[in-house]
Amino acid sequence: MSRIEIVGLTQQFKDHRAVDNIDLTIEDGDFVVLLGPSGCGKTTLLRMIAGLLDPTSGQILIDGQDVTHLPAKKRNLAMVFQSYALYPHLSVEKNLAFPLNVLKVSKEEKRERVLGAARALGLESLLHRKPRELSGGQRQRVAVGRALVREPSAYLMDEPLSNLDAKLRTNTRQELSELHDRLSATFVYVTHDQVEAMTMATKIVILNGGRIEQIGTPEQVYDAPASIFVAGFVGSPPMNLLEGSLSTRDGHVQATALGSTSRLWPGTCPEHKVTIGFRAEHLRLEEAETGAVRIDGVIHQIENLGGEQVAYIKVGDHTVVAKCGREVTLERGERFTAGVRAANVHLFDQATGRRMEWVEEPAPALADAL
Ligand SMILES: Nc1ncnc2c1ncn2[C@@H]1O[C@H](COP(=O)(O)OP(=O)(O)O)[C@@H](O)[C@H]1O
Ligand SMILES: [Mg+2]
Repeated sequence: MSRIEIVGLTQQFKDHRAVDNIDLTIEDGDFVVLLGPSGCGKTTLLRMIAGLLDPTSGQILIDGQDVTHLPAKKRNLAMVFQSYALYPHLSVEKNLAFPLNVLKVSKEEKRERVLGAARALGLESLLHRKPRELSGGQRQRVAVGRALVREPSAYLMDEPLSNLDAKLRTNTRQELSELHDRLSATFVYVTHDQVEAMTMATKIVILNGGRIEQIGTPEQVYDAPASIFVAGFVGSPPMNLLEGSLSTRDGHVQATALGSTSRLWPGTCPEHKVTIGFRAEHLRLEEAETGAVRIDGVIHQIENLGGEQVAYIKVGDHTVVAKCGREVTLERGERFTAGVRAANVHLFDQATGRRMEWVEEPAPALADAL
């Protein structure tokens, strides 16, 4: 059981601010993924939560108790790292039991907790093996098991799957999700891999340059990215982003990009520089005539992904990416005309990089920026 509250947390390394004034509440039972590119401050933030790094300023509360300056061992949190340093000369059972040696736990309880963790992670038949006799995935499970035996109030994990091969990563992702469901514990998980974030998180926190860009469910982050950064970071292929402008004509808001103008919604708005975003799967052939944004270009490259295909369309100097089913016949060098429905068009203020929302009430207007 653990609710973690972070208030104004900052880490200043000499002239570099790795974590910049972060406010974040992690509810009991959340699976929070801290997601962002390398160097954005994920590990630094996690280490401060763990008590391995003293914050420059700000506060950390666990279940209401201020733990900001409490040493790691007094926080009852378990940390699982990318490199799962198991003791090579000890069996799986002894590796699992190791963290209990420093706690005052009876022999019977120790045995019980080790078996409980082994059962939870499917390691029962491997208890007598040495780490070198295990696969990478099994070793990673032992590392998680070592956190489990301590029965911590929350699990902190820093890129625990990044040393595993692709197939194993997929399996272990599922195992971690199941484990989270079973334990109903709080997980704080660091990764730069958006697929891990999308598949496991109940809440994703997207970090950029030590600051939070967006907090949301995987759906919110994908369907309504709060900034150009998030739009470009989440999703594969990333969202198409075109520089353009908004203006009003004949009672409609219109967008101009790539030299052509398209009608978005009824309403008015002052002239404004925007970035127009749409996902590859929302660029559809059947919207070529009717779409709010229309694309007319030449197919430059096609990638076959098995179940679907991704086409790179040259429109002037720009490349736009489309994703469609394999039943659609695409040929390199052929013309490609398609469109995006207004509901699937995202607008971002070019000056601030933030999302602009179209609101109907009381009068149609763009919230935020305008
Ligand atoms: N001990 C340190 N001293 C100075 N700079 C550091 C230290 N640890 C991390 N940094 C810097 O802080 C930034 C964030 O690092 P980190 O939290 O490790 O990023 P991430 O885990 O997101 O890749 C990076 O620019 C990194 O170089
Ligand atoms: Mg890191």
